[in-house]
Amino acid sequence: MRRVVFRREETRRGPLVLVNAAHPLAEGSPPRLTGLEGGGVLLERQAARLLDACVRAAGGWRDIVPVSGWRSRAQQRSIWDETLAAEGEDFTRRYVAPPGCSEHETGLAIDLGERAERIDFIRPKFPDRGACGAFRRLAAEYGFIRRYRREKEALTGIAEEPWHFRYVGAPHARLMEDNGLCLEEYGDFLRAGPRTCVLSNGRRVTVSYRSCPCEAVEVSLPENACFQTSGHNDGGLILTVWEAVL
Ligand code: DAL
Ligand code: ZN
Repeated sequence: MRRVVFRREETRRGPLVLVNAAHPLAEGSPPRLTGLEGGGVLLERQAARLLDACVRAAGGWRDIVPVSGWRSRAQQRSIWDETLAAEGEDFTRRYVAPPGCSEHETGLAIDLGERAERIDFIRPKFPDRGACGAFRRLAAEYGFIRRYRREKEALTGIAEEPWHFRYVGAPHARLMEDNGLCLEEYGDFLRAGPRTCVLSNGRRVTVSYRSCPCEAVEVSLPENACFQTSGHNDGGLILTVWEAVL
């Protein structure tokens, strides 16, 4: 076994950070960003690569438009202020996260729209037919979850948003989809014990949760393990270990 040490500040960043009104995103340097098809919308690099692959597998960018990806805190504040002025408080609270509490600020969230002459920036249409429907069905395989579902509104604090997808990584998207969980429920699900899933490529993955009560936490991993850690922005880390390929 080998020992790996994680520091507490790592609990606040990574592809599995939970960001909502109760879990604001820590201020820090912006993620490593890259432009999506068309160039105007930015996303964290790994999320952008997998989004592009998923859209292409769903039929390509001809019918799908990236509407909004990474937003700076200042941009989120402008969106909040402008929506508040135009649509009022109830609508704004339902469809716009307060500045500092939007996962768009992580670069891991993307709003997609069906290509059309006019696209609503706050509530783009993303129907269940054609390339949009195909994308939705493939999303988990490429690591994206449908973040805001109607039946989870009380937990997420946000109304249903069929256009908003969040990159978390394929094992986590699989576990959340298969168990009907939103990101707000995932930490508790993992705290109950490690979980295993088998990816579409046949690779087995084990996911576990480690709380980080002190400055640093030490984790034992199998020698040569292929692993990833991510903060969950709730004081803990999520550890993902891919089974070795023999
Ligand atoms: N529309 C989502 C909730 C956001 O503003 O982050
Ligand atoms: Zn969004």
